[in-house]
Amino acid sequence: MALQFPTRAERPGRLPHAASLRERVWPEFMYHDPVLERLFDRVIGEDAEFHFYVWDDEREEVVGAGHAVPAWWDGDAASLPDGGIDAVVEARFAEGAPDPTVLCALQIVIAPECRAKGLSSRMIQRMAEIGRDHGLDTLIAPVRPNLKHRYPLTPMERYIRWRRPDGTHLDPWLRTHERLGAEIVKVAPQSTRVPGPVGEWEEWTEMTFPETGAYVVPGALVPVEIDRERDEGLYVEPNVWMVHPAG
Ligand SMILES: CC(C)(COP(=O)(O)OP(=O)(O)OC[C@H]1O[C@@H](n2cnc3c(N)ncnc32)[C@H](O)[C@@H]1OP(=O)(O)O)[C@@H](O)C(=O)NCCC(=O)NCCS
Repeated sequence: MALQFPTRAERPGRLPHAASLRERVWPEFMYHDPVLERLFDRVIGEDAEFHFYVWDDEREEVVGAGHAVPAWWDGDAASLPDGGIDAVVEARFAEGAPDPTVLCALQIVIAPECRAKGLSSRMIQRMAEIGRDHGLDTLIAPVRPNLKHRYPLTPMERYIRWRRPDGTHLDPWLRTHERLGAEIVKVAPQSTRVPGPVGEWEEWTEMTFPETGAYVVPGALVPVEIDRERDEGLYVEPNVWMVHPAG
């Protein structure tokens, strides 16, 4: 594969995307986070230099993408927000927000047919390089561990301690970040918050929720809380704050 990693500012406009990337990459409910529904177009539109594509020269199409936003962080673990992704995106567009000091990763996505070839490490490195190009020397990331959905009943605090016999993380995505020198700082307990009427939750998940209670839902990292009396479902996704070494 002959790959290039241009930013959206360098290659503006609508580039052709691999068919597998035009389909939904995440479980349906992940597209209903009100903060991202409200602000993601601004994230993409106003910070084009912090988003990049993986452009495959042979296929002449995009086979991956990385999204990040500039953020303010003073280097103190306590100031990394519990609200993870939602908090960082809201802070980016808040009135009187302080000047950014770091780059914060939001998401890296690779076309399924291009996965498991080591591309993700190159993408994290490219993201960190884009930050440095703009004077943001540290990359921070509210990481969504990519196998946590198979262990929805395990608290994130315990899951991040699971290691393989060789000492590396059981979770591939935590492992990939750590191999590049990133360290876990703490859990972001409410990184993505998705409230919605029970009927909508039933549509998004193609499940039925007959009673009030907690339900294991495919693709969710923790159970979804359903309250039939209040007609509300609520998913609060924990992520993991990791910090990459300053470049
Ligand atoms: C997560 C993602 C970016 C990883 O990219 P990738 O190019 O497939 O990963 P790599 O080939 O670089 O592999 C990284 C590690 O994960 C492992 N791995 C990747 N997918 C795996 C899976 N489904 N199950 C088990 N291990 C997996 C690899 O073996 C490798 O570990 P190792 O080097 O210790 O063997 C990609 O799978 C993806 O786009 N997933 C959907 C979106 C997503 O979850 N993004 C991350 C959160 S924003």
